[in-house]
Amino acid sequence: MPYAVVDMTLFDARQRPLRDLRISVTDRCNFRCTYCMPKEIFGPDHAFLQRDELLSYEEITRLARIFVSQGIEKIRLTGGEPLVRRDLPALIEQLRTIPGLQDLTLTTNGSLLRQQAKRLKEAGLQRITVSLDALDDATFKRMNDVGVPVATVLDGIEAAREAGLWPIKVNAVVERGVNDAGMVDLARHFKGTGVILRFIEFMDVGTTNGWKLDRVVPLREMADRINADLPIEPAEANYRGEVAKRWRYLDGSGEIGFISSISQPFCGDCTLARLSPEGELFTCLFAARGHDFRSRLRDGSSDDDLAAYLASVWRVRDDRYSEMRTAETNAAAARVEMSHIGG
Ligand code: GTP
Ligand code: 5AD
Ligand code: SF4
Ligand code: SF4
Repeated sequence: MPYAVVDMTLFDARQRPLRDLRISVTDRCNFRCTYCMPKEIFGPDHAFLQRDELLSYEEITRLARIFVSQGIEKIRLTGGEPLVRRDLPALIEQLRTIPGLQDLTLTTNGSLLRQQAKRLKEAGLQRITVSLDALDDATFKRMNDVGVPVATVLDGIEAAREAGLWPIKVNAVVERGVNDAGMVDLARHFKGTGVILRFIEFMDVGTTNGWKLDRVVPLREMADRINADLPIEPAEANYRGEVAKRWRYLDGSGEIGFISSISQPFCGDCTLARLSPEGELFTCLFAARGHDFRSRLRDGSSDDDLAAYLASVWRVRDDRYSEMRTAETNAAAARVEMSHIGG
């Protein structure tokens, strides 16, 4: 090697590097998906975070810069619904200037994309992931529970494509008896378009979504059901720690993915940290509590202090919830809600 490379990678207690950061910019959402923000819990009286509790864009960018200096390569913005936070492109403009950041993307429900796609692209967003659980209007409206039609989200996806946000991925959470009958329709719709569809096993995130093991359609069954109509075969992973299992259509018309956190957990390769809207760092999607960065951002701590705190959190990280899960786990301890840390 002609010159020394300074490798800042942090490893946890299970030798997993810190590589990806999901930043949730708001706990609010304009949908009430039954598996994520059920209306009975997230109703008019629900106490969402107030503005001064949220990290400002300057605070987020400062932290992101420090995290990238400690090995983070990829940042994904999430929510709630990230596009409901005011002027999100302004945050993207700041984040894209961070040296060493290789991938900047966003997960959205797509309902506001028609209005915002062009501005997001101009601000420096590279690609995008859109959630869409069904192609059938009645099913989709039942799931988002606010009456948004499929056409709005499809139009949002089209707007993203026109704006040059590419590649586009689509996430569909599959819940048995709710939308599993529409899986093949979804697959057929996106097959051959270049948009990569991924089916997600319904997860027991948080404590309010009524999760039951018998509502989960495992990867094996999902793949069999797609394969029966549209033949597919497994493809190799793009990189270690890739969350979705990739499959390809035998007729060469592209790929499709499955995210199998329940039936085939991937904790052994989990390189992901999650920052909540009020600046708590969660080392696992299923963690009960986070680590408070906001008070350190606001008490005069230096960048070195913040980096040292991050290292102290990551080095002892031992989480592997999905590998330990049982059908009974859902009833157990408190866990952060999905809408709070964005998946
Ligand atoms: P790209 O492949 O880079 O586009 O990202 P990704 O596959 O990580 O996609 P995305 O962020 O859209 O994640 C899709 C789903 O997988 C979300 O529902 C996440 O909650 C879930 N997921 C992502 N990472 C993890 C993880 O580490 N653990 C668990 N249990 N679920 C995860
Ligand atoms: N199980 C699986 N996926 C979920 N998502 C939200 N809640 C759940 C759940 N309980 C998905 C969203 C989005 C992604 C970030 O997480 O639909 O695509
Ligand atoms: Fe909103 Fe996404 Fe949760 Fe649905 S899954 S309620 S769109 S944050
Ligand atoms: Fe990572 Fe926790 Fe998911 Fe396992 S359960 S893959 S440790 S986020």
